[in-house]
Amino acid sequence: MPGTSRERVFRVLHLEDSELDHELLVAHLARGGLNAQTRRIDSESAFLEALDEPWDAVVSDYNLPGFSGLVALELLKASMREIPFILVSGEIGDDTAVEAMRSGASDYLQKSHLARLVPALLHAVDAAETRRARVRADRDLVASKQRLHELAQHLQTSVEQERAAIAREIHDDVGGSLTALKFDLAWIARHSSSPQIVSRVQSALETVTHAVESSQRIMHNLRPAILEQGLAAALHWIALRFERRSGVECQIRLPKQPLELPPLVPLVAYRTAQEALTNISKHAQATRVQIDLSLAGGVLSLEISDNGCGVSQDDLAKARSFGIRGLHERAKTVGGWIDLSSGPHGTTLILSVPLDVPDSAYVPEPPDKSYDPSQWADV
Ligand SMILES: Nc1ncnc2c1ncn2[C@@H]1O[C@H](COP(=O)(O)OP(=O)(O)O)[C@@H](O)[C@H]1O
Ligand SMILES: [Mg+2]
Repeated sequence: MPGTSRERVFRVLHLEDSELDHELLVAHLARGGLNAQTRRIDSESAFLEALDEPWDAVVSDYNLPGFSGLVALELLKASMREIPFILVSGEIGDDTAVEAMRSGASDYLQKSHLARLVPALLHAVDAAETRRARVRADRDLVASKQRLHELAQHLQTSVEQERAAIAREIHDDVGGSLTALKFDLAWIARHSSSPQIVSRVQSALETVTHAVESSQRIMHNLRPAILEQGLAAALHWIALRFERRSGVECQIRLPKQPLELPPLVPLVAYRTAQEALTNISKHAQATRVQIDLSLAGGVLSLEISDNGCGVSQDDLAKARSFGIRGLHERAKTVGGWIDLSSGPHGTTLILSVPLDVPDSAYVPEPPDKSYDPSQWADV
């Protein structure tokens, strides 16, 4: 900063009733090598008016007729302008100096020690600029985090829409053709008298049946049709499948009453359970899993606990692991959040979604009704 002080013009607002003292200040600024533009004012109204202009610093006398340096400092603070304020007085006592610094003054000087004015001014201006830069950087960081969240949430939503579109294409194109092929093969089998042809057709039918099953499985992974029967049924189904595949005991507790959920919530809950169970089979070495779905105080909770080895902070920070990070973003798309707690006796992951405050959430485009997966189950 001192290096730039010669080229730069410093705009200094001087609150001072004595013209002589003002000239003394101007002389000290010049002697200190500061290229300063100053204006003297001595009333509250002139001070308030001048605050609309861009000043590098305010230097204020402590005692002014009908006005005071400390009042000026309060007015400056109330105006929310980040302008450094230096208090100057002939007879400033320790108590007043402490009070001024507490109230946010950048510095205070005795009129008899004005040699310190230029270094004090440069220091105060520098500190204010650093503060402003930090506030700007903090604001930019918050805005950038917000954009990143929105992007991540948008990606989650886009992925679901893309999956739904692929599932629909498999249903319409592949599913339709396979069904037609099945009918044709069955017709050939019925109308053929050659045992060789019939046996060949049977084998082709088995292949087609296998292809139908595969496309159903792929469609289900892309967009779980079971969700059309409700979240409870879908969780029940996923728990059963997990138990069968992994051999890990999986208990599930569901609400007795059927739940009325907003359109996007069941899929978010389903994907959360899916990722949690995949993690358990991949990482936890658990022998027991508990899934709880409940609604209390207007908040839907889905809790998945295991008695496995637990998750460490290092695990969660893995550069290439996006499962749990994705769950946080997914939860936010419906105004919810994820809590993960873990210890040596296992891990608990909880999705919470308040059901009555949809406005707080990032609202993705509504799903296209023509993607209704209920019609895909019967390829
Ligand atoms: N239930 C669990 N039990 C033990 N460790 C887990 C569990 N869930 C996640 N982890 C750990 O946390 C890490 C991050 O999980 P995740 O974000 O889903 O990414 P990924 O499964 O692709 O590694 C995993 O690699 C694993 O080390
Ligand atoms: Mg995972």
